[in-house]
Amino acid sequence: MLVHAQALLVGTPEGRTDYLDADLRDVDGILAAAAKTLDFSQPVALMLLGVVIFIEDDEESYAIVRRLMDALAPGSHLVLSHTVTHPDMPDVDEAVEFWNEHGTPKLTQRTPAAVARYFEGLELLEPGVVSCSAWRAGTPAPDVAMYAGVGRK
Ligand SMILES: C[S@@+](CC[C@H](N)C(=O)[O-])C[C@H]1O[C@@H](n2cnc3c(N)ncnc32)[C@H](O)[C@@H]1O
Repeated sequence: MLVHAQALLVGTPEGRTDYLDADLRDVDGILAAAAKTLDFSQPVALMLLGVVIFIEDDEESYAIVRRLMDALAPGSHLVLSHTVTHPDMPDVDEAVEFWNEHGTPKLTQRTPAAVARYFEGLELLEPGVVSCSAWRAGTPAPDVAMYAGVGRK
């Protein structure tokens, strides 16, 4: 990932990019490093796609997202996707169990309602916290056990 980032970070006058290899739990370190590139007086998009699933403790995961969003200016957005438990998709629970037996780090599934909690205090944009497939423009696609939402501060 780091090598990939270095290859991509060639830079253009239009914008600056940076890559930080960090643990999401190190919120202060991430914010301090990001402040070298991002202007935190301006809105920022925080994209946590399939990442907080690796923070096992619920309250810790909510606190991480809240602390990151607290540092951002009004008008910033949170984009977050998360594997969910869903009664209609029991196969996914089995796949996650298998991963947790054999893989690392362990993955935590949460309910759609628990995923919606990451957006508390934000204005949740339409269509809300829904299956990622529902975010596709055009033809409706079947639900998947990965839900996503977008919230505006
Ligand atoms: C399912 S992948 C998603 C990657 C990417 N966000 C995407 O949507 O394609 C999960 C990523 O989270 C990273 N990850 C796992 N635990 C993490 C942690 N505690 N802090 C930061 N990243 C973590 C993994 O290294 C992996 O790159």
